[in-house]
Amino acid sequence: MTGSIGGLGQLAAAHLLARGRRVVAHARNDRRAADVRRDLPREAVVTGDLKNLDETRRLAARINKLGAFDVIVHNAGEYGVANGEILNVNSLSPYLLTSLVDAPLQSIYLTSDLHLGGDLKLGEMREGGTDVTYDDSKLQILTLAMAVARRRLRLRVNAVAPGWVPTLMGFANGPYAPDDLRAGYMTQVWLAEGGEPASRESGGIFFHREPEEDVHPSVSDTERRTTC
Ligand SMILES: NC(=O)c1ccc[n+]([C@@H]2O[C@H](COP(=O)([O-])OP(=O)(O)OC[C@H]3O[C@@H](n4cnc5c(N)ncnc54)[C@H](OP(=O)(O)O)[C@@H]3O)[C@@H](O)[C@H]2O)c1
Repeated sequence: MTGSIGGLGQLAAAHLLARGRRVVAHARNDRRAADVRRDLPREAVVTGDLKNLDETRRLAARINKLGAFDVIVHNAGEYGVANGEILNVNSLSPYLLTSLVDAPLQSIYLTSDLHLGGDLKLGEMREGGTDVTYDDSKLQILTLAMAVARRRLRLRVNAVAPGWVPTLMGFANGPYAPDDLRAGYMTQVWLAEGGEPASRESGGIFFHREPEEDVHPSVSDTERRTTC
């Protein structure tokens, strides 16, 4: 569980632990890892600051040393910081971890309703640009998730839009996060455990355990073909 010392990641990890699952936590640095050990005491903890891509690469190597995983939840995310940091944490690090970590049986990627206002920004990095907004990043991670789902046909790969919920990030966007906090993290738990047929799908985008219908055409329009 990336980003498991706050918000949805911590709540999902704590719930899985309470149900007897083995969870490897992730924190950005040793200080935060100490917080993890205090708050989620039965876990292994791996560290790596996802805004630094070299640290993300080292994190991938540490994860691989731990052995095979049933599930990896790409949960960590930033909002309200510089766009370059958003690009690294929300988009490039999940991409690197997906590429460098031995594929788990299931991957879960955290997106957001705000992806609907995003743009893939395909030309942005050519000039060394980093102007990727939060909304762009959540479209990018969703696009990654669905592409991986179509590639890794024997594995389960899903995305979750948790709603606007009252975590630190949720409050950063205003004081009245209207969605259900428990439903915001239990969808990840439900997918990870795979106890119900609907939770054993792959290629799904879920909001509070239900299929999310409102999806950006960059992701949903898989029939589109062009000739050149
Ligand atoms: N809350 C919402 O309303 C909402 C809505 C839609 C989508 N989401 C998505 O849900 C996921 C979880 O969000 P949340 O609400 O739980 O956010 P949160 O409360 O801010 O927690 C984010 C987690 O990510 C970690 N993290 C952030 N930057 C990191 C970095 N550079 N390196 C390593 N770890 C880092 C944080 O660690 P520290 O505690 O050390 O900062 C924390 O554990 C995110 O992907 C977010 O985009 C949330």
